[in-house]
Amino acid sequence: MMDDQSRLLSVKNLSTHFFSREGILAAVDGVSFEICRGEALGIAGESGCGKSVTAQSILRIVPSHGKIVDGEILFYQNGGAPVDLVSLDWKGKEIRKIRGKEIAMVFQEPMTGFSMAYTIGNQIMEVIRLHQQVNEAEARRRAIEILQRVGMPKPEQTIDAFPFALSGGMRQRAMIAMALSCNPSLLIADEPTTAVDVTIQAQVLELLKELQQEMGMAMMVITHDLAVISELCDRVMIMYLGKDVESAPASELFSNPKHPYTVGLLKSVPELGEGKSQEISPITGSVPSPYHRPGGCPFHTRCPAFIPNVCDLQAPPQVEVAKDHRVRCHLYVQE
Ligand SMILES: Nc1ncnc2c1ncn2[C@@H]1O[C@H](COP(=O)(O)OP(=O)(O)OP(=O)(O)O)[C@@H](O)[C@H]1O
Ligand SMILES: [Mg+2]
Repeated sequence: MMDDQSRLLSVKNLSTHFFSREGILAAVDGVSFEICRGEALGIAGESGCGKSVTAQSILRIVPSHGKIVDGEILFYQNGGAPVDLVSLDWKGKEIRKIRGKEIAMVFQEPMTGFSMAYTIGNQIMEVIRLHQQVNEAEARRRAIEILQRVGMPKPEQTIDAFPFALSGGMRQRAMIAMALSCNPSLLIADEPTTAVDVTIQAQVLELLKELQQEMGMAMMVITHDLAVISELCDRVMIMYLGKDVESAPASELFSNPKHPYTVGLLKSVPELGEGKSQEISPITGSVPSPYHRPGGCPFHTRCPAFIPNVCDLQAPPQVEVAKDHRVRCHLYVQE
């Protein structure tokens, strides 16, 4: 599909489970995808489908009662042989060299990314000095430069502000600045705009798009909002109950969705997709409890195209319906 030069991340059959008294929760259940250098992948799906746990697995920050039980996460650093991030000690030196430097993350709520006790400048400079051999004055100069780049007003002064003194939008910009300060090859943005209001959302998205193009970095954008994906992303993966139910180039997915779940998601965003129906028709029913996952295809309990004795009994294999367009659905399995 792509040559080794352009390949950046290759996730194969990733499964991450949580273990508790209630049982085993398969938060991520056999997911595969790839990201090329400079490419933006969007991951969408309803709440609880495993988007954030996929990101946590890549960075190896899954909480301790969770575990990657299967699969590999190959990260291709500067054209060298890939490292399987799954094989690394989560608190070891190797992953710490990658986390924050090669792969950085912007969270939904910028407060979680910052400590309230230090200025944003201190925190950005700390990241810079952790990964680059520069003195304090140089780190400060670079921090101001990056704050300027993300559109922070008066960066020479704002650098000494504490996070709580900034507005939500400015805090989100500071967070992006911190994530970008080491020039990562991959930026993971998990719901980067849900905590800020609509006008700021548009600005943050515009900023991410500009920076991605300017810096040539790859992005993994996690969101509920398919409009955000159509704005920012080259490829899309749709998840449902821990499964990668459909993935395709963005234009292909929006014009030719195959999985009934994707079709339902697109119908609820009337400005996208073929239907262009004015009627908002959300998918009926709600996501089942992850502890009582339906057998067969996990979506069969809500699926308008449900085939009795097939969809409820057998897990659909992944089928390639067009170039780079893969779907897990019995409707497309050729006998
Ligand atoms: N720390 C945790 N401990 C136990 N279960 C968890 C934990 N984090 C996530 N889960 C469970 O794993 C599943 C996937 O969660 P995840 O946070 O990845 O969903 P998501 O797609 O990011 O949802 P949202 O859109 O609401 O952010 C859910 O069933 C969730 O309850
Ligand atoms: Mg999430």
